[in-house]
Amino acid sequence: MTPMHKMTTFIRSVSVLMIVIIVTAAVGISAPEPVYALDNGLARTPPMGWNPWQRFQCKIDEKLIKQQVDALVKQGLAGVGYKYVIVDDCWMMGNRDPEGRMIADYIRFPNGMKVIGDYIHGKGLKFGLYASRGILTCSAKMGSQEHEDIDARSFAEWGVDYVKYDNCPLIGSEEEIQRRYTNMANAIKKAGRPMIFSMAAYNFREWMPGIGHLGRTYGDISDDWGAMLRNFDENAGYARFQRPGYWNDPDMLEVGNGKMTPTEYKTMFTLWAISGAPLIMSSDLITIAKENLAILKNTQVIAVDQDSAGVQGVKIADSGNGLQVWSKRLAAKGSYAVVLLNRTDSEQTISVNWKDVDSTITRAQVSDLWSGGGGTYSTTFSAKVLPHGVVMIRIKRVG
Ligand code: GLA
Repeated sequence: MTPMHKMTTFIRSVSVLMIVIIVTAAVGISAPEPVYALDNGLARTPPMGWNPWQRFQCKIDEKLIKQQVDALVKQGLAGVGYKYVIVDDCWMMGNRDPEGRMIADYIRFPNGMKVIGDYIHGKGLKFGLYASRGILTCSAKMGSQEHEDIDARSFAEWGVDYVKYDNCPLIGSEEEIQRRYTNMANAIKKAGRPMIFSMAAYNFREWMPGIGHLGRTYGDISDDWGAMLRNFDENAGYARFQRPGYWNDPDMLEVGNGKMTPTEYKTMFTLWAISGAPLIMSSDLITIAKENLAILKNTQVIAVDQDSAGVQGVKIADSGNGLQVWSKRLAAKGSYAVVLLNRTDSEQTISVNWKDVDSTITRAQVSDLWSGGGGTYSTTFSAKVLPHGVVMIRIKRVG
């Protein structure tokens, strides 16, 4: 073979190799699975549970947590999937013990946190605990900075299944925030007990899906229509990052806290479900009104949230003056959840064109997840929607 031949053969082999690489990448045959730092098999669907913060803030203690756990079970909420009980800020002291371990507040939790974990586990539920990445928590208690390993070990000893990790005291560069969250993710990995890592750092960062299971996408929610929509809209911007094992978190559910109307709470619950958001209730489960309890227990809406495909719903139509349509692809073939959202102050008729949901659908079987109605519809579906209300349907392609 002449040098010229050798060169031509070499160029041909390289070209063939490149074509193979390009084709393989395009069809994704041998694309390696991405490796996630904390991919411990948890949170394959969005976590569901209860956290006292939005209702009780720091006014928590052993008695209150146990009573709320009892109510969670008694009210039938555990039975429909709410299983993580997450003790938020203020459970700890402002100092550490001589060995450097975090200690439970002597007055609020005199028997320590393992007792709380045992109680929660005794009811067949899971135990979540709050900590923060800086020197202090957001309520100025002890933070985990430079104590990540020892704290994660304590959490494992106490039976913690879920760590909510806050971003206080709000100082430090973006690089530092990432480093400190990563340190805790690694510490949890080493602690020998699988735990969900919920990152409450207010804004989404692209590194979050790589190191934990939940990432807050905006500041604290409040029991208010405008605040609720703001958190929902912001969360929607990161839909492409969501997958089983990583969930965008628009913050806790306010359902039952009393400042929004039942229609608005139904809207909130529906929007969280179409987002595939974590469903973390944060009201008083003992005194919650029946109609609000019924919202939290709608198993068909919960099923949309918990759908195994793990897709986050996206906006598919917008009138520009407050009438919107949102859609979420579901795991069952040809199935979607669709929400007609009326952000205005008057009743409106909202329509959805099947082709905007999926270009292959011309006819669909519809079931209304709040009213229980349904039927088969060609091309479009329209419904009257209350002010600040929603209509949520599940559809299946039949043509
Ligand atoms: C921050 C978080 C809240 C709550 C408080 C506790 O504000 O976003 O969810 O955990 O801290 O201090």
